Amino acid sequence: DAGVFTFDPGFTSTAACESKITFIDGDKGELLYRGYPIEQLAEKSHYLEVCYLLLYGELPDAAQLEDFENRVTRHTMLHEQMQYFYRGFRRDAHPMAIVCGVVGAMSAFYHDSTDINDPWQREVATIRLIAKMPTIVAWAFKYSIGQPFVYPRNDLDYASNFLHMCFAVPAEEYHVDPVLARAMDRIFTLHADHEQNASTSTVRLAGSSGANPFACIAAGVACLWGPAHGGANEACLNMLREIGTVDRIPEYIKRAKDKDDPFRLMGFGHRVYKNFDPRAKVMKQSADEVLHLLGIDDNPTLQVAKELERIALEDEYFIEKKLYPNVDFYSGIILEAMGFPTSMFTALFAMSRTVGWIAQWKEMIEEKSKIGRPRQLYTGPVRRDYVEVENR
Ligand code: SDX
Repeated sequence: DAGVFTFDPGFTSTAACESKITFIDGDKGELLYRGYPIEQLAEKSHYLEVCYLLLYGELPDAAQLEDFENRVTRHTMLHEQMQYFYRGFRRDAHPMAIVCGVVGAMSAFYHDSTDINDPWQREVATIRLIAKMPTIVAWAFKYSIGQPFVYPRNDLDYASNFLHMCFAVPAEEYHVDPVLARAMDRIFTLHADHEQNASTSTVRLAGSSGANPFACIAAGVACLWGPAHGGANEACLNMLREIGTVDRIPEYIKRAKDKDDPFRLMGFGHRVYKNFDPRAKVMKQSADEVLHLLGIDDNPTLQVAKELERIALEDEYFIEKKLYPNVDFYSGIILEAMGFPTSMFTALFAMSRTVGWIAQWKEMIEEKSKIGRPRQLYTGPVRRDYVEVENR
């Protein structure tokens, strides 16, 4: 029984907030979205249906699902002037810098969905953010590789539309492989929400001041960027590449255990999971499936990842510290195989997590929570009088 915590108006770091959206049992390695196990949703559902579940609390019937998907599909285009934001960035700008900037700028274009006290405007902002994030992220990718923007299409499903905007070029037809689209959609579902993680707490705190929804989501994007959080998928693949071959794994295991070495095994460990991260298990299966489809079963990075996982899970340090692979351990291998550069990994995480951020933001607004105000334990000097500079 998860028990119920009351939301401390002082938002102290020790307090917990009440939510009906996502449940995690770190000891059991259990993750439920509105009571449904992530493994079942990843296998049987799809991202937009999971979005509906997270936002409204129940799985939709056929008519509700069709209406929701139609509303999202018809909001995927960006205001044409937003393209000029991209041109203000250097081509080598990190995609997260672009996404953070463009999402925050949405409030300058979609004034009719910024009043958080108007339920209809909240709903419009919700649909716009879920619908437009794939376009924003895909265009950040296109801009970074010097290719023209590809507009969203209404005849493609959510994941296929995103892959089409990323990899299509005007010179020829681009057909999205349905297996890759399914794998992409599953990655979106696995990242959709995760209770009160750092970026979700950032969105809630920003939202508690009454800031507009676009500014709140931009704050979540900024927080997710950190390598201890959403930036770990990019850091993990860079680590696996640096290790390079399985014979070099022991050297890195040794470093990870050395308290004087700041090195951490990226993609390992978690604040809450002290057992397997259930998302990592699904991600590992998906990695095998996608690499097999692409004919790269012998992908050296995957071999290193699997051997690293095997060694670490048998190592007494990792067993004692209860360190297991997390959601970021295998995701980068799939994304790299699909053709994404490591710099895009966290932007994809942000796109997937947008629905979780919004669902938690809506829940907080509807519960009329007070402004968040984390308390502190003061450990500085006691009161003292000013001393002129000549007497110091
Ligand atoms: C995400 O909160 C969420 O839900 C986040 C997330 C989400 O969906 O939103 O799940 C997404 O952020 C996943 C985590 C991605 N980050 C990484 O993979 C980066 C590598 N992991 C570590 O930085 C670390 O595990 C954290 C930051 C994730 C958690 O750090 P904690 O809180 O210190 O972990 P812990 O308390 O369980 O650590 C126990 C011990 C500590 O040593 P001692 O202080 O007891 O001596 O294990 C050590 C840690 O130093 N440790 C590691 C380690 N992670 C923890 N040692 C080596 N390698 C690691 N990866």
